[in-house]
Amino acid sequence: MKITVINGPNLQLLGIRKPEVYGSETLDGVRRRLESVAKELKIKISFLQSNSEGEIVDAICSSIKNGVDGIVINPAAYTHTSIAIHDALESVGIPAIEVHISNIHRREKFRRKSVTAPACIGQICGLGTDGYEWALRAMAGYLKKQN
Ligand code: DQA
Repeated sequence: MKITVINGPNLQLLGIRKPEVYGSETLDGVRRRLESVAKELKIKISFLQSNSEGEIVDAICSSIKNGVDGIVINPAAYTHTSIAIHDALESVGIPAIEVHISNIHRREKFRRKSVTAPACIGQICGLGTDGYEWALRAMAGYLKKQN
């Protein structure tokens, strides 16, 4: 079982970016944590961060040829604007879970709408960087049930 974890713009700054909102764990810390969870679950993961919408679309689309079974994605600011990422997720038909570190529904109005979530099976938000771990575990459980 292979799950890809995709991170959008500015998430490379985790740990120093607004720690009161996003916490103190770095993105590298998140990656290491997910790698250890993946070992425990006996699944494979790949991990990407990109500030470029096109690169994220490419990563989603190449998931088919890369044999990816599930996607965990924090599209970051593209959550609120990117029909291209929505369409890529919908087009590949690979189940995806959207993650947000902060609770986007209790922040500024422009963050309350996700254009990408309708292309996902679910969304985890507001649980800090732990949300990535819950999403990975949830996706592994979901895929197991499917098979
Ligand atoms: C975020 C929420 C977005 O609104 C914001 O643009 C981000 C991070 C989150 O994880 O809480 O970059 O996706």
